[in-house]
Amino acid sequence: MFFYKTLINWYLKNNRELPWRKVRNPYEIWLSEIILQQTRVAQGLPYFLKFTEAFPTVFDLAAAEESEVLKLWQGLGYYSRARNLHFTAKYVANELKGVFPETYEGLLKLKGVGDYTASAIASICFDEPAAVVDGNVYRVLSRFFGIDKPINTTKGIKEFKVLAQSIIQEEEPGRYNQAIMDFGALHCKPQIPLCNECPLASNCVAFEKNIVGDLPVKLKKIKVKKRFFNYLVIVTDKDETIFSERTGKGIWQGLYQFPLIESKNSVSIDELVSNEDFISLIPNNAEVSLFNQKEVIHKLSHQHLYTKFWIVNINKMQGDFIPWKKIDEYPTSVLISNFLKDYTKTK
Ligand code: ADE
Repeated sequence: MFFYKTLINWYLKNNRELPWRKVRNPYEIWLSEIILQQTRVAQGLPYFLKFTEAFPTVFDLAAAEESEVLKLWQGLGYYSRARNLHFTAKYVANELKGVFPETYEGLLKLKGVGDYTASAIASICFDEPAAVVDGNVYRVLSRFFGIDKPINTTKGIKEFKVLAQSIIQEEEPGRYNQAIMDFGALHCKPQIPLCNECPLASNCVAFEKNIVGDLPVKLKKIKVKKRFFNYLVIVTDKDETIFSERTGKGIWQGLYQFPLIESKNSVSIDELVSNEDFISLIPNNAEVSLFNQKEVIHKLSHQHLYTKFWIVNINKMQGDFIPWKKIDEYPTSVLISNFLKDYTKTK
């Protein structure tokens, strides 16, 4: 309660005067919140003014050409927001007679409206205690409560939403939501937060422990590379196959595998059999079929391997073949070992 009341008091003295704060109609609040997604208030403000001037009501926006909406949106980026905005305006104008849904659940069904926007509109326009969680809210909550759970993981997102929801009250939820967002933007800033003149400092865990600068915690996302593997599972008429040691640096060095053709994308059977490596390795009277209709996706920390196992029936030819019954004697990857378990059931 101290936290809630203090933020509202702070807001009453310090809030930013913004045009959408002078209204409570869901059309303008919705418009402002869509514009402000992934956009700072200073950048979004002129767009809000342009849009409300060009389209004073949801019916005006619905009646516009999409090109006109996109033109006005120009410079804001993330153009799917503008397309969804126009789609939803037409839906509200034509299907809902111009009346926006009045609950969090109802608002969530609109295209382009997610948890954050539904909470903002429901609380600001309809006094529903639905807590918003945006970047500013993560910062304020993580610092005040001393939470070091990463904010960009599924678990972290859930935990912060539960905490935010447990704080919001029936009393002035819209004002509180805007208070915590403004407080994060203006006071509890990412760099150089104003801790020495902070009304929450006496109870702020991060301030007490001197870890304000360490919160919130964000996990560095590693770029996951997608690779497309095609293993050629050769079966000769003498029940032999080719299984050889993986050489060179990289994953699975020293483990055994079927001949591998890596492709840029997922390939069809026609693309596979016309691949140069395939042609040089496999005689042209081979019978080829795909074992797994759905690609196996093998996840490693930095790469996801989209894998197809192609069964290639051939007559015995020259080369380093091993009998199928000895295949279990060779060390191999989990990806191939799992395939072998499935394949030997059908063999
Ligand atoms: N950022 C996005 N919407 C906001 C709002 N209503 N108040 C403060 N900051 C915001």
